[in-house]
Amino acid sequence: MARVTVTVSFDNAAQVLLPPEPGLPYLRTNRAKELTLDPGGITVNNDGVIAATTPSEDADLHVDAIGCALLPGLVDCHTHLPFAGWRAHEYEQKVTGVPYEEIAKAGGGIASSARALRETPDDAVLLQAREIAAEMLQNGTTTFECKSGYGLSREGELRALKLAAELGRNVAQTTTRTALLAHAVPDGYTADTWMDEVEAMIPEASGYATALDIFVESIAFGLEHLDRMGTLAARHNLRLRAHVEQFSTMRSVPVALRHNARSLDHLSAIHPDDIGPLGGSNTAAVLLPGAEFMGKEATAPARDLIDAGAIVVLATDGNPGTSPIFSLPLIIGLGVRRYGLSTKEALLATTLNAAYVLDLAETTGSIEPGKRADLILLDSPSEHVAYRLGRDSVAATFVAGEPVYVRPDAAWRIMKR
Ligand code: NIG
Ligand code: FE
Repeated sequence: MARVTVTVSFDNAAQVLLPPEPGLPYLRTNRAKELTLDPGGITVNNDGVIAATTPSEDADLHVDAIGCALLPGLVDCHTHLPFAGWRAHEYEQKVTGVPYEEIAKAGGGIASSARALRETPDDAVLLQAREIAAEMLQNGTTTFECKSGYGLSREGELRALKLAAELGRNVAQTTTRTALLAHAVPDGYTADTWMDEVEAMIPEASGYATALDIFVESIAFGLEHLDRMGTLAARHNLRLRAHVEQFSTMRSVPVALRHNARSLDHLSAIHPDDIGPLGGSNTAAVLLPGAEFMGKEATAPARDLIDAGAIVVLATDGNPGTSPIFSLPLIIGLGVRRYGLSTKEALLATTLNAAYVLDLAETTGSIEPGKRADLILLDSPSEHVAYRLGRDSVAATFVAGEPVYVRPDAAWRIMKR
C-alpha cells in the first residue's frame, strides 16, 4: 500500500465531508443529514494517518483544494473481481429482449464467465483485474471487495480467491475477499450436492476470505441453502453476505436476519413485509443501481428502507454480466436518480456504511483523526457528482495520504512547501 513519509495539508476545500461524531461503526441512513459538508481542510501525519480536521501551515506537502470537495475515498463493497473477459454480446441480447434466465439456461451468464476464467491463465486474469483497479482509482475508489464465484469447482473457487489475494498485493487500494461459493449450480450437481462441496471447501477457502456469499434466486439457490450458508459462516467465523431478491421475491430476508447477515445485496424485489425488520437490524442493505439499470430490473425501495432505519449502501456490483460498471461516481448518480437519495445519503452509502460491510470502518470510510488518509478531491461541489451524470469529477485520489492518482489538469494542486 502507498504511504507518505511527509506531512500533508489539504487547504481551502469548498466542502469537507465529516461525520457527526468519531468512531461510528456505521450511520443509519436516516441520520445522513448529520454529516457536514462545510469549507475547510485537513492535516495528514507522516504515517499516512489523518491528524486533524484542520489544515496545517507547516506541513511538508500542500494540496490546494480550492473549489474542491474533499471526501473520504470511496468504498466499493460489492464487486466480482477477478474475472476473465467480458460479455458484451449478452448485453445486446438483453437490451433486445432476451431474459437473463434464458441467457443463463442457454449456457450464457455466470457459466460463460466460469468457462472464460477456466481457460484464461493467471497472469492474463490479473492483468485485466489490475487495469480495472486502475480505472477504479481514477474514479475515486480506495477500497474494494473481490469475490470468487466464477470458479464453479473446488479448484476454481480456490484459484479465484488466490488470484484475488494476489490482486490485492498489486493494487494501491485496500481489498477484501468474499467467497461466493454458491453462485450457480455447477453441471453435474444439484443445489444440495453442491452445498455439500461448499461445506467441504470452506475450511480451505476461509484462509483467503472474510465472508461467505450465496445467490438466492429461482435459477440458483433456495432459502434452505441460505440457511445452511448462514450456519457455515457462523461455524467458520466468517461474515454472511447474500445476493437476494434480485429478480424474484424469495423471502430471503427473514432467513438471513436470523443468521445476522452483514449485508443483503440487490433487494430490488424485496417483499414489503421484510423492509421493517431489515431496517431495524444491523444488516446493511446494499443496493446495486448499476445492475438494476443495465438489467432493467425493478427499483429497490430505498426510501422505505431508509425510513425503516436501514444502513443503506451503494456498490457497483462490477461484473461482466449484470453490471460491467466500476465507477462509484456513476453509481451515485444512478442511485440518486433511481432512489431519490440526497447527496449526503449517497456519499454515506459509498463511504462509511460501505466500509462497515467490509469490516473496515475502524480504519477508513470517513475523515476523522486516527483513520488512514484515504481521500478524494472532486473538482466540483459534491452535489455535481449525481447532477452532471457521467462527468469525471475526481481530480485526485489519495491512499494513506499518498497521491495515487492525479488527473493531469489537477497536478498543480499538489505543491511542496
Ligand atoms: O450480482 N446475481 C448474481 N450474480 C451477479 C451476476 C453475475 C453474472 O451475471 O456474471 C450479480 O448481479
Ligand atoms: Fe453481485
